[in-house]
Amino acid sequence: MAEVKQIPPVSEPGSNGAAAPRKSVSQDENAPHSAPSAPAYQARFAHIVGWGYHVPAKVITNHDLEQIVDTNDEWIRTRTGIAERHVAADPKETSVTLAVAAARKALEVADVPASKIDLIVCSTTTPEYSFPATACLIQNALGAHNAGAFDLSAACSGFVYGLAMARGQILAGDAEYVLVIGTETLSRIVDWTDRETCILFGDGAGAVLVAASDVPGGIMAVELGSDGSGGDTLIVPAGGSAMPTSLESVSSGMHYIKMDGKAVFRFATRVMASATRKVLDRAGFTTDEVDLVVPHQANIRIIQNSVLNQLKIPADKVFVNLERYGNTSTASIPIALCEAIEAGKLKPGYKVVFVGFGAGLTWAACAIDWRTPVEKQSTDWWRATRRQATYGAAAARSMWKRTVRWVYDVLPTDPEAPARDDGKDKETRDAPLKETARSRDAT
Ligand code: UT7
Repeated sequence: MAEVKQIPPVSEPGSNGAAAPRKSVSQDENAPHSAPSAPAYQARFAHIVGWGYHVPAKVITNHDLEQIVDTNDEWIRTRTGIAERHVAADPKETSVTLAVAAARKALEVADVPASKIDLIVCSTTTPEYSFPATACLIQNALGAHNAGAFDLSAACSGFVYGLAMARGQILAGDAEYVLVIGTETLSRIVDWTDRETCILFGDGAGAVLVAASDVPGGIMAVELGSDGSGGDTLIVPAGGSAMPTSLESVSSGMHYIKMDGKAVFRFATRVMASATRKVLDRAGFTTDEVDLVVPHQANIRIIQNSVLNQLKIPADKVFVNLERYGNTSTASIPIALCEAIEAGKLKPGYKVVFVGFGAGLTWAACAIDWRTPVEKQSTDWWRATRRQATYGAAAARSMWKRTVRWVYDVLPTDPEAPARDDGKDKETRDAPLKETARSRDAT
């Protein structure tokens, strides 16, 4: 097991301190008495120590949508609370580029180099490709050469699922630093002629760095749930093994989001409240003790019907920013978390809940005893320059590895074997892929 250490930015608990540390092996009455020199387990905790978000520059307002579909600003505002959303209008902006920008900010806040990350969990419903995993492309761009990386598919609940994975890895002693990212370019799978969905969604990414610490607190409990019987209420039908992409699937628009809005709405109001109750119970917090709720930003009426009305948590403790971003799916909670911190809504010692729901159907909540200082640290120029240099080095390393692979591809490995083509055919075939990789490296 890796050494447990105190992460410097995490402060000691105050009077409203934390849950009891986990039992050590020697305290466990079920452990065999004669167990030979069992390792002395130290209590480990998983704290969020860095956070960042990034959204594309292009904004589409409700008035802009009035020009595209039969809708109006008043309907969208009153039925959803949304006024505008950011959209990745530039084809070079992808789920990876948004995620990398958010992740770099999170690493900067934590002041941790990418080389220290043990695991990258990327939650997304709009991955760069079916495979490889978007997380691996992020790993490459960050130069996180010691990290494992995988994508997680739990739609809008995915970010909290990712936090649960991070916490599990850290408490098990398998990781010291886990980067959890939610990133979406939903504008690429939205049907811009469908007024029931195109008004809802936006693009963006949020990332947090979760670190192991012996300071009590951090992510204290998680609640994950699913109900696949409702899978068809929010779905992209084509592009998977059930309906592979074909001329027919594209011409019938099956590669776009299809949603039964009312069914999702009913489900959401139910599970948001029950998941919050369960996670608070598990963490040993009461609803009165909660200082901040960061809910999935889908629809203001869902938040009102669940968190405010059912749980009776006052509005000033519930952070909402969906008016400016719309529903960014799995990115919505980390983006809202970053903005809540910027707005001074989060302080060390606060009890915080993240709660979300989404396609699957899925839901997820986590309860956090927040200990990390949130004041903006001034970045000295030397650290900033060094950080930039490491990203430049990561791009160079990636280019070098690709070149080595290309050389192996072109050179005949067996001198007896007939000469292979000079690589030109392959070059032509791979040109679009290489262009994508080049533009990603350049950002
Ligand atoms: O992350 C999870 C993602 N999904 C969600 O969170 C979706 C959850 N569901 C919702 O947020 C809501 O159900 C919607 C916002 C999608 C729809 O709101 P609603 O209050 O359930 O509206 P509705 O579907 O009952 O539609 C009411 C009326 C209908 O007209 P009629 O049949 O009453 O004449 C719709 O055709 O509003 C019409 N309508 C619209 N009118 C103007 C539906 N969409 C629009 C629109 N602009 N964009």
